[in-house]
Amino acid sequence: MAIIDEILSLKEQRRAAILAHNYQLPEVQDIADLTGDSLELARAAARLDCDVLVFCGVDFMAETAAILSPDKTVVLPAKGAWCPMAHMISPQELRDLKALYPEAAVVCYVNSTAEIKAESDICCTSANGVEVAASLSEKEVIFVPDRNLAAYVARHTDKKVIPWNGYCYVHDQFTAAEVDAARARHPLAEVLVHPECRPEVIDRADFVYSTSGMGRHAQSSPAGEFVIGTETGMIHRLKKDSPGKEFYPLSRNAVCQNMKKTNLSLVLQALQTLEPRVSVPEETAIRARRSIERMLAV
Ligand code: 13P
Ligand code: SF4
Repeated sequence: MAIIDEILSLKEQRRAAILAHNYQLPEVQDIADLTGDSLELARAAARLDCDVLVFCGVDFMAETAAILSPDKTVVLPAKGAWCPMAHMISPQELRDLKALYPEAAVVCYVNSTAEIKAESDICCTSANGVEVAASLSEKEVIFVPDRNLAAYVARHTDKKVIPWNGYCYVHDQFTAAEVDAARARHPLAEVLVHPECRPEVIDRADFVYSTSGMGRHAQSSPAGEFVIGTETGMIHRLKKDSPGKEFYPLSRNAVCQNMKKTNLSLVLQALQTLEPRVSVPEETAIRARRSIERMLAV
């Protein structure tokens, strides 16, 4: 296909790498150098030897890449691809919360703005939230912005967790009744859900994983069928990595609109123009980098 050849040849000329989140459209996942969850993509952004990172995902992911790799040009092909949850808390709101709990450590989910990361002690992703919180010496932990991941961390550590009331509209919409109905339809399937789901949904699942964690589980499990409680883009990745196994979305409505804004034409345009570019002011980046690097060291 001509557009794929153009992307691949321009990628070489630019010394670029294409990173894609597991929720991206199938054709975008298929041309990426690496498809992964937030943790894997952050690690790759820090490690890759290239001049340009084309980040097929949403704003906070590209910002994290720019913070970790200030010498690389980071482009987010779809302008306006942002994560609503990341914008549910402002820096002032976090400062006010910190003033109420001066003894607490601040953990921010990576789905947050660079300014929130700069105000936090440490970052976490859905893959390592429990380990990150458990690694802290403080007994109290302010956890922002996702109330559901905060509840999950609270249940799996001995920390007193002070949550912020943010949520992901894609995961927060799953219901316990949907899990029961999926089990009735697919009695042999294992139910895997993301920790951004509500506690009552998590309680009915067999396993809770980050997106890539779901992939690893499906590959190693003896089960042949899985109900997947996350964004539906994940199904493409799962089928590709585990051919011969069956994957059913917990809900076909679980679609992150902003993750679907990136397409091959926009990837090509981004490589041609090196726009829209993502950068973080140095004074914010220095403080945010500390939180992210502290997480990467856990
Ligand atoms: P993962 O890090 O598990 O891929 O999750 C990212 C995300 O945005 C989930 O909604
Ligand atoms: Fe944000 Fe939810 Fe979309 Fe993930 S799925 S990017 S948390 S809105």
